[in-house]
Amino acid sequence: MPKHELILLKNMMQPGYTGSLQDYERAGGYQALRKVVGKAQPAEVTAMVMKSGLRGRGGAGFPTGVKWGFLPKGYQGPRYLCCNADESEPGTFKDRQLIERDPHQILEGIVLACYAIGAETAYIYIRGEFVLGARILEQAIVEARDAGYIGTNILGAGITANVWVHRGAGAYICGEETALLESLEGKRGLPRVKPPFPATHGLYNKPTVVNNIETLANLPHIVSRGPEWFASIGSPPKSTGTRVFCVSGHVKGPGNYEVPMGITFRELIYEQAGGMRSDKPLKAFIPGGASAPFLTPNHLDVKLDFESVAAAGSMLGSGGVTVMEEGTDMVWAALRLMEFFYHESCGKCSPCREGSSWLVQTMRRIVAKRGRMEDLETLVDLCKNIEGRTVCAFGDASVAPIMGTLKHWRPEYVALIQEAEAANLIKLEPAGRH
Ligand SMILES: Cc1cc2nc3c(=O)[nH]c(=O)nc-3n(C[C@H](O)[C@H](O)[C@H](O)COP(=O)(O)O)c2cc1C
Repeated sequence: MPKHELILLKNMMQPGYTGSLQDYERAGGYQALRKVVGKAQPAEVTAMVMKSGLRGRGGAGFPTGVKWGFLPKGYQGPRYLCCNADESEPGTFKDRQLIERDPHQILEGIVLACYAIGAETAYIYIRGEFVLGARILEQAIVEARDAGYIGTNILGAGITANVWVHRGAGAYICGEETALLESLEGKRGLPRVKPPFPATHGLYNKPTVVNNIETLANLPHIVSRGPEWFASIGSPPKSTGTRVFCVSGHVKGPGNYEVPMGITFRELIYEQAGGMRSDKPLKAFIPGGASAPFLTPNHLDVKLDFESVAAAGSMLGSGGVTVMEEGTDMVWAALRLMEFFYHESCGKCSPCREGSSWLVQTMRRIVAKRGRMEDLETLVDLCKNIEGRTVCAFGDASVAPIMGTLKHWRPEYVALIQEAEAANLIKLEPAGRH
């Protein structure tokens, strides 16, 4: 049983909760919308979100209210809210659960965000494989529209907010906010050069906010219970609220755990997720999705908040915590992740497009025991030529597994290469001398 108060997962943990409109209303749903629509000024809602300290749950952790504040004031014309439900970061599966089990919590958050930023249209960009989630959202939108929570003249207050579901086609890069916008516009999902930022030049070149599903799901609670309440949870002032961490890998209880930010990795892995699968010692963990550099058992007492994880040399990212036990082959693990990034590189920037292919080839050679010592320098050189040289953060993310494993487990690379060299020496011995 969780020892902390659940916020986002609370409803779905109640026996018999189906996520229907009736169930959501019975649990107090749509009261936040009733509290503000037509009663508070949109700017007041933005001010509440700023005061709560809510930061984006999609990866970068940007303060949500501040992001909304970047929209041009007094702009006459459409503006959009895009809800990022792409969730393709390996090891991340929280948005899916929020969507499938409590869709109205997200829809209420979306309408609140639309109200605050003055958007009459919101698109939920959902990962193509989430077929069930897309159906559940469609159904929930119909229910909410019939009840007057979505559409025109919301709650009789003359406010419009239409919500549409748009299914992606299965590209990791379409989770990156500008690639998402391109894809929504019907183009190939490639990231845009920033600036200009979506706040001024977003969807169809109009002012746009892109927010993650979990970010949006927090809004009804902030509005209902007040920003001070939210700001008192977690690790204030910079990491407020809870987060849903997706724990996977070699633990006894893989799954989603909602905890206040600021608990330690030790508590998350050993108390919440039940500890190591076969009671072997922990060897490594990825703290925030495949893009986040690996951490080691020395980091178990690092706090799960934005600053502490950054100070430890990684990032909280998407909240996907992947745990590896002693005995895990770290070179193989890095190769597996690199293969994912190679497959998903969109091809726009040559350092990432060409570099990821080269990295995979070199890593495959090392794992197949055909590597050379010089390969280690080549790996570092390639990573350094990708880092910071691409249009979006994908490039930096893609090199994290190799750079991280080289930093902490270099002897494993060296051992594989030494085996390769020894095998070569035997092969090179002239036949006649035996
Ligand atoms: C390669 C890449 C993939 C991303 N994938 C996702 C994703 O699947 N879901 C998500 O919410 N954000 C993802 N992001 C982050 C988004 O670009 C963006 O920062 C986020 O949706 C903003 O919402 P937030 O402020 O609520 O976190 C990704 C970023 C990059 C660089």
